[in-house]
Amino acid sequence: MDRYLVYGNPIKQSKSPIIHLAFAQECQQDITYDRHLSEVSSFEDDINAFIRNGGKGANVTAPFKEQAMAMCDELTEHAKFSGGVNTLTFKNGKIYGDTTDGIGLVNDLLAHEVCLENSRILLLGAGGASKGVILPLLNQKPQSLTIANRTVAKAEAIVEQYTNQPLSACSFDQANNQAFDVIINATSAGLTGNGVPIAESLITINTTCYDMTYGKNLTPFLQKAQQLNARKVIDGLGMLVGQAAASFYIWRGVKPSVESITAQLKASLVQE
Ligand code: ATR
Repeated sequence: MDRYLVYGNPIKQSKSPIIHLAFAQECQQDITYDRHLSEVSSFEDDINAFIRNGGKGANVTAPFKEQAMAMCDELTEHAKFSGGVNTLTFKNGKIYGDTTDGIGLVNDLLAHEVCLENSRILLLGAGGASKGVILPLLNQKPQSLTIANRTVAKAEAIVEQYTNQPLSACSFDQANNQAFDVIINATSAGLTGNGVPIAESLITINTTCYDMTYGKNLTPFLQKAQQLNARKVIDGLGMLVGQAAASFYIWRGVKPSVESITAQLKASLVQE
């Protein structure tokens, strides 16, 4: 049986084992998939021990994505731009790194029939979550992708990595004077209950609002979007399942379906 783990700290809350085991059942793959609580000081040793014990691959979540990237022998182009990896594959004595969060986001947006081609996209935040989704969003050929961040210099540093792309950086105030079709919250502000400091006028009946986080209740950003009658209000549960599906495909070469496990997780969130 091929073994996989997800590393994080904290990790108890991770839904990855439920998702991957559902995929494995559907696709008839004989695998195990468990959680592993790691520490910054022991992460590398933990990964190396897992490889020695025959581990085939791992998912990596906060705070280990950068550390995991540093351990890789080979990285995809997308992972290099992201500055972190969430998917490790152990093969032929090497560690291969990729990041699937952006594919998960784009596939979820497309599944919700959100048009990205030629659209004006506003990405809020310039941390790891934001960096991981930029290339897949650009690959959808938007008219523009604007990164707004509290610390503008961080957004500017991301933009500098790319050439010949419709990508720009600005402050929240500067974003408030523009118009967007899709607004994606990649800040951690939704989690703290502070909401996101953008003007209400940015959200109209033509705007799709997406929050990369999810929970039993709508995030403050999505609650606001709903009050303002945004065209679509979508949380990050589908992105979570989508990134897992993309990791599963990298490891197993088969594409699992995402709908039924997403619905199952949504139902279990309501009961939490
Ligand atoms: P992650 O890996 O989740 O992206 P991160 O790298 O620490 O975490 O980035 C957090 C992001 O949320 C950053 O864009 C941060 O803005 P700064 O770069 O200015 O710190 C943003 N953020 C966190 N709290 C915020 C708040 N209260 N208002 C606005 N932005 C916030």
